[in-house]
Amino acid sequence: MSEHRISMTINGLRHVSNAEARVSLSDFLRGNAGCTGVHIGCEHGVCGACTVIVDGLAVRGCLMLAVQAEGAEVTTVEGLAAGDGTLHPVQQALYDEFALQCGFCTPGVVMTLAALTAPGSKANEQQLLAAMSGHICRCTGYQGIRRAAKKLAAAPAGEQP
Ligand code: FES
Ligand code: FES
Repeated sequence: MSEHRISMTINGLRHVSNAEARVSLSDFLRGNAGCTGVHIGCEHGVCGACTVIVDGLAVRGCLMLAVQAEGAEVTTVEGLAAGDGTLHPVQQALYDEFALQCGFCTPGVVMTLAALTAPGSKANEQQLLAAMSGHICRCTGYQGIRRAAKKLAAAPAGEQP
């Protein structure tokens, strides 16, 4: 199969590399761009582990082809914390509420919550909790994740809860 030259902005940096048309965005981000925080579980849109933000929206990286993200602004979990290591409010909330154990599902959870609590797209508590139904976690029993989501819903957009 022929390769395509694909360019996109990943975590604020322009990335250009080649991939076949069949390559998913999640495989591209991991294999071509080295963003191994993009986890791959089910590969068919169910578990949520591969969630990244594309042009402001949380999307399943396994359900989108890399070629479809041509020219897009993509954010992965690697792009959330500040340069000095200060955690993004979503990361901090999950940390504070003990909302992870093995961490496999965590990048996807973080990216969905980050998209839904970004300035201008502030979701309410019900919407955040409903969005968590799209993420499978084998470890936590979801209670910590739910506490973090509730905290984030109560905080002003983009601020620490
Ligand atoms: S790996 Fe994409 S939703 Fe499971
Ligand atoms: S923390 Fe292990 S799968 Fe969620």
